[in-house]
Amino acid sequence: MHFHKYEKIWLIFGITILIVFLLVVGVGAFAMGHQTAGSIKTIDPEKVTETAPFDNPGLVYIEGNKYELNIVAEAFAYTPNEIQIPKGAEVKINVATKDVVHGFSIAGTNANMIVEPGYISSYTQTFPKTGEFLVLCNEYCGVGHHLMMAKVEVTE
Ligand code: CUA
Repeated sequence: MHFHKYEKIWLIFGITILIVFLLVVGVGAFAMGHQTAGSIKTIDPEKVTETAPFDNPGLVYIEGNKYELNIVAEAFAYTPNEIQIPKGAEVKINVATKDVVHGFSIAGTNANMIVEPGYISSYTQTFPKTGEFLVLCNEYCGVGHHLMMAKVEVTE
């Protein structure tokens, strides 16, 4: 079979791009744990405060430096709204809302989620330094939107 020179170049180029693409997606999915939005967990928005772990929100110790932080969002507050986290902790933050769409962002970190009724939003954040962080709602949720905040305190 004879290939024209340009045909060969483009074939090699196309196959290389395909391999690079599959590698990027593969490493992201299997090595870095990236998931599609479809794997998000659901919750009955009318039963948030009766559903574990949101029936007892707050910081939960898992193992080593791993923690889970479960937060209930509602107009216009977070429960709990003062959170103490030990320095160096790797925290999986889970947030569920009882009413409308809210946000959950920790100023100065990459934690920034939309919290939709019916879904549990999760993000894992490490806190390498001590300090105080402001938690803000960044989705307009009503007249008290600008008052919706909480505080994360990272302690020794
Ligand atoms: Cu909650 Cu804006």
